[in-house]
This record gives sequence, structure tokens and C-alpha cells, in this order.
Amino acid sequence: MTDYAGRLRLGVNIDHVATVRNARGSAYPDPIRAAKLAEEAGADGITAHLREDRRHISDADIDGLMEALSVPLNFEMAATDEMQAIALRHKPHAVCIVPEKREERTTEGGLEVAREENKLAHFIAPLRDAGCRVSIFIAADQKQIEAAHRIGAQVIELHTGAYCDFHSEGHFDERDAELARLREMSAYAHSLGLEVHAGHGLTYDTVGPVAAFPEVMELNIGHFIIGEAIFRGLAPAIHEMRRLMDEARA
Ligand code: PXP
Repeated sequence: MTDYAGRLRLGVNIDHVATVRNARGSAYPDPIRAAKLAEEAGADGITAHLREDRRHISDADIDGLMEALSVPLNFEMAATDEMQAIALRHKPHAVCIVPEKREERTTEGGLEVAREENKLAHFIAPLRDAGCRVSIFIAADQKQIEAAHRIGAQVIELHTGAYCDFHSEGHFDERDAELARLREMSAYAHSLGLEVHAGHGLTYDTVGPVAAFPEVMELNIGHFIIGEAIFRGLAPAIHEMRRLMDEARA
């Protein structure tokens, strides 16, 4: 058996609990309470994205998560000086570097590592030195994977958004082509020694084929789980995702 066929981890992204809270400018619902509940329901980690515009997660949420969590925090952030300083202050288990545009509704594409290799290499070095695992969020593109490897990232997270969009739009040929690209690039990244994660847009319908890639060690899933929690509760929503991941992995 290959060494990477271990249990697939589920990271639950709690950003959209904060989105609902912020819609009213109130203290409710509390993303830290959601994170603790997710932890109790079997999440292997919690992901939170502190955006430059603080549209969902706030600085105080990051303080609270660092204090409250027993599972690792995956701190998602743009490659800015401000975010680097915050990450260095907290030293979370992992930082995931994502592209960020003010006008986007969500993280639309992967990071252009190849174009900014030098800058990113300097940016992540202190984070690595501080003991954080550095993950780079990228498309399933060989050029970007090689660049992520060269700059010294330990982890890549493959962007599954295009695959999920093709699925929900009924473009099944394109979906299958994107899935094949994700599969091939997971294996390629693993062969370079990178740990492979994946996420964005995953649902009960789309998680299985990605969970089945043996090189993928972690899936980070947020919007769908938080949405599904409205109907069945957060713990059952997480349990079902876990069940589907385990089923696909087996
Ligand atoms: N991984 C990364 C790097 C992301 O930026 C996001 C969205 O914040 C996710 C995973 C989770 O995506 P979703 O909320 O669509 O499940």
C-alpha cells in the first residue's frame, strides 16, 4: 500500500457563518461556536479566510479561533504585508495563500505563482520559518504546481471550482475533462513531494470523485456545508460529507 492512502482529512470552512452574522451587524451566529461544533462533529481542521475587506471573518474571529480550537486552523489569506504580519503573530498550523480581488464574490481562480515566483518565495519564507505549513491555492496547471514547488511551499490546494461549476451547469464533458486534469495534477504534485489538498465549491454531488484521488490528503469545504446546515443541522451536514468522502476513498 502506498504511504499516501491515509485517511482523507476534512477541513470545514466557517466563513459563511460570519457572512450571516455580518448581514445584521450582530454577534450572532458566532463562527467560533460553529467551529467548535464542527470539531465535535469530526472536522479535522477549520479553515477561515480573513479577507482584506473583512466581509466575513474578522480579526477578532481569528483571535477567538486560535484560542478555542483543538484541531488545526488553516488560515486563508492574500499575499499582503498586513496578512503576513497577522499570520506571524498567530502562527496557525497552516496558511493557505489565495488570490483576492475586492470585487469578486468568492475566490475565483488559483494563484498565479509562476508570474510572481520571486515575490512569493520571499513572502512565504518567514511563514515557513515560523513553523506554519504553507499551502498555495492553484488551478490544476503543471506550470503553477512546479512554481509552487520551486518557491518552497509544502502544500498545494487544487481549485475544484471549475469542476463543480461544470457539474452544476450540466456541462458534463467539460466537467469530466477538468476532473481528469485534477486527477493527473494531484499525482504530479505528489510526485514532486508536495502534499495535495483540494477544495472550492464541493457538494455532496461532486465530492466523491475528488475524494477518490489517493494523493489528496485534505478537502476544504465551506459554503455547501454551511448552507446544508440550515436544513439538517451542522453536525449531520458534516457527518454526511464525511460519509461520502470515506465511501469514495474506500
Ligand atoms: N479552499 C479555498 C482555498 C477557498 O478559498 C475556499 C473558499 O473560501 C474553500 C476551499 C471552500 O470553498 P467553498 O466555500 O466553496 O466550499
